Amino acid sequence: MKDNSSTLDVELFERWGPTYERSWMQQRLFDPVHAAVLQHAASYFQPANVLDIGCGSGRLLRKAHVYWPETHLLGVDPAQKMLEVARKLTPEAHFYQGSGEALPLEDASVDLALSTISFHHWHDQAAGVREVARVLRPGGYFLLADFTAPAWLTWLYPRVHSTAQMRALFEQAGLEVQAQPGPVARFVRITIGTRASK
Ligand SMILES: C[S@@+](CC[C@H](N)C(=O)[O-])C[C@H]1O[C@@H](n2cnc3c(N)ncnc32)[C@H](O)[C@@H]1O
Repeated sequence: MKDNSSTLDVELFERWGPTYERSWMQQRLFDPVHAAVLQHAASYFQPANVLDIGCGSGRLLRKAHVYWPETHLLGVDPAQKMLEVARKLTPEAHFYQGSGEALPLEDASVDLALSTISFHHWHDQAAGVREVARVLRPGGYFLLADFTAPAWLTWLYPRVHSTAQMRALFEQAGLEVQAQPGPVARFVRITIGTRASK
C-alpha cells in the first residue's frame, strides 16, 4: 500500500517525465553519477543482465548498453510518464512499472542491480534493499548511488543516509558491502554490495 509521501514522490516524476531529459541536472548531477556507477560495475564483471531500479527515462540503461551491448537490460520505475520516455528512447531494454519495494522479478534472477538518485524517494527503504537482495543471484552485485550526509545531519532528511547507515541497511538485507566510493558530484555516495555465493 502507498503512503502519502510516496504518492507525492511519484507524482513529481509524472509531471517531470516529459522534460526530464532536458534538465540542467543531467550534465551536472546525473551524468557524472552514471559514469562513476558504470565504471565501478564494469571493474567487477560482465553481467548477463542489468536491472536499473528507479530507472526514470532509461538514461543509465542506454549507457549500460554501450558498456555491455549483449547484456539484457531491465528497468523498473513507478512513474508512467518516465517510463513512456524510457520506452521511446531505449528500445533495447524492457521496462516494468513497479517500485523498489516490490520488484516484479523472480528470486535470484539478476546479475547486476543499479539505482541512481532514486533511493531517497523510496518510502520503505529497508524493504527495498531486502527486495533487491531477493532478486540478486548469489554472487550478484548491487550498486546504489544516492545523496549522503554526515550522521548528525540525517535527522533533517530521514531518507538520506550516512555511509555507516547505508552499510547497515545493506548488511541487514544480507548484502556484503564491498566498497563505498565517493563522493561523486559532491553529495552522492555509491554503496556496492554483493549477495554471498552459496
Ligand atoms: C531523480 S529520478 C532518477 C532517475 C534515474 N535513476 C536517473 O539516474 O536518471 C528518481 C526516480 O525514482 C523513481 N522512484 C520514486 N519512488 C520510487 C520507488 N519507491 N521505487 C523505485 N523508484 C522510485 C521516480 O519515479 C524517478 O523516476
